[in-house]
Amino acid sequence: RPETPLARLQESHRAIISRLPNELCQPTWGIICGSGLGGLADHLEERVDVQYADIPHMPRSTVQGHKSAFAFGFLSKSSSAAFSAEEKAQNGTTSRRIPVVAALGRFHLYEGYDAQDAAMLVRLFKLLGASSVVVTNASGGLHPDWDVGTIMAMHDHLSLPTLSSMNPLIGENFELGSRFIAMSDAYDPALRLALYRSAASLGTETLSLLRSGTYAYVAGPTYESRAESRFLRSAGADCVGMSTVPEVISARHLGLRILGISLVTNKVVVTPYFDADAAVRQELKTGKTFDAEAIRKQDAGEAANHEEVLEVGRRRADDVRKLVERTILTADA
Ligand code: 6GU
Repeated sequence: RPETPLARLQESHRAIISRLPNELCQPTWGIICGSGLGGLADHLEERVDVQYADIPHMPRSTVQGHKSAFAFGFLSKSSSAAFSAEEKAQNGTTSRRIPVVAALGRFHLYEGYDAQDAAMLVRLFKLLGASSVVVTNASGGLHPDWDVGTIMAMHDHLSLPTLSSMNPLIGENFELGSRFIAMSDAYDPALRLALYRSAASLGTETLSLLRSGTYAYVAGPTYESRAESRFLRSAGADCVGMSTVPEVISARHLGLRILGISLVTNKVVVTPYFDADAAVRQELKTGKTFDAEAIRKQDAGEAANHEEVLEVGRRRADDVRKLVERTILTADA
């Protein structure tokens, strides 16, 4: 086993490219696919998958709705649903082909992995030669006006785990980046603009799904309590999820450009608590008693659940995929 993290990563990198045709060995974009968003890789041309299990030093992803492989391939205007027939017919534009790598399956703190494990995907993107990353995730909506299905361009994050001690850059400095890294400029403004332009080109309906905001990162696997949700909201977060920030931090460390996209798959619970005090007074007044099961059912009906998250992911997967494809094919990364 090689001594340093970099040497181990280089061994992983060699194993990956040994399984790829030459023309796919240097993707310019890396994409990390969040819950239910694996479809981002469905339109890749000349796609070749490399299973995480075939890569030395690679953790395994264990979550339902995530796979455990890299998908390599080309994005092109001619095969992307994000471009109209007229656009495809325009001279010269169809020839543009961009080699990309999509990670289907990532590593979360709640699986028992550490922040360094979560960073491994973008570090491999860097060794493969990528200069930009798209990081996607599913999240719970904290912003009161946002519907389920809102697509949020991340312009900032709020991360209690990495503020305290779960920062992927803790430890001996990984030699491909420097020791102290700014996070005030983590989310590339030009890529965000390219995303909005892409939404505008796809139509007013797509543009109306898009918002910009702050993603709160929590370790999970529990969804937030009501007090925790209020706390995150009052601190400025617009949505909350269990991924992405370790990848963003290590991508920034390596000088990669970052586009973060969060799909709001459910609203966090902010309904008032059952008021036992008022209830007992009403019981005294009316002689009618509240039914325990009915009360519990109402409480439980509001709770977040993983099936809902995956279902909304599937429903919006096409919109997110078109946005990402169009952004990559039009942005000057
Ligand atoms: Cl409500 N919370 C967290 N932490 N992650 C989520 C979520 C909520 N919904 C989807 N992912």
